[in-house]
Amino acid sequence: MVYAIEVEHIYKSFGNLKALYDVSLTVDEHTITILMGPNGSGKTTLINVISGFYKPDSGNVIYKGKSITGLPPHKIYKAGLARTFQIPALFLKLTVLENIMVARTEKKGEGFRSCLFKNRWVDEERQTAEEAFKILDIVGLSHMWDKQASVLSGGQMKLLELGRALMTGAETILLDEPISGVNPSLAHDIFAKLVTLRDNYGITFFIIEHRLDIALGYVDKVVAMAFGKFVVSGSPQEVTSDRRVIEAYLGG
Ligand SMILES: Nc1ncnc2c1ncn2[C@@H]1O[C@H](COP(=O)(O)OP(=O)(O)OP(=O)(O)O)[C@@H](O)[C@H]1O
Ligand SMILES: [Mg+2]
Repeated sequence: MVYAIEVEHIYKSFGNLKALYDVSLTVDEHTITILMGPNGSGKTTLINVISGFYKPDSGNVIYKGKSITGLPPHKIYKAGLARTFQIPALFLKLTVLENIMVARTEKKGEGFRSCLFKNRWVDEERQTAEEAFKILDIVGLSHMWDKQASVLSGGQMKLLELGRALMTGAETILLDEPISGVNPSLAHDIFAKLVTLRDNYGITFFIIEHRLDIALGYVDKVVAMAFGKFVVSGSPQEVTSDRRVIEAYLGG
């Protein structure tokens, strides 16, 4: 089977701090996988390594069978792998629609956007706007299209970040805490949208999230880390009942 993502023996230190120590894991295509672990266990660092924002000290990152280790973020985006940030990285002075439109990349003829817009021949600006509106529909923000991004709630900002990732044409999306600080009803809504995107468009998600009470009801697989190391992976039930995982949380 081809994995969406394979991480092999990744090491990453900051000075004396071993943020990632021999981390290996896989993410299956067309699934939702959660990466869990106590604060400071290296989750965001791992996403930074996968998405090219940090270079690993050693080890490999493979995306759909091809090495992307050490490539800069824009090349990794172009390959179809996008990410969001723990603190949303939006253009706060631009409108919701503009935030989506500027996320468009050069990638053509492939990916999620082309599923929506087969064989269209309209001028580029108009096509970009049409695509952006379609994506706003999917993430549930079309009623806010002309609002400045700064007026969005925390949950809406997370949705806009997801929309921006979709607009890059991504087939695999890394999400860093998509429901942190989001009210429970919108948080369920966000995870239900991810399920729809997996089922209808085959998108793969690798998600860091602490709010397991909500997230685990929607995911296919869980990977647990602690102290910069991989601990265990499996079904939500297997991982959350694993003694090493429980100890990592109680000990933290
Ligand atoms: N750029 C950096 N420079 C120095 N230390 C860093 C850097 N990035 C992360 N760290 C350290 O690496 C360790 C792992 O941090 P990381 O942000 O990956 O944890 P996390 O699992 O995402 O935690 P949280 O759940 O709190 O977001 C922490 O001790 C953190 O302080
Ligand atoms: Mg983090």
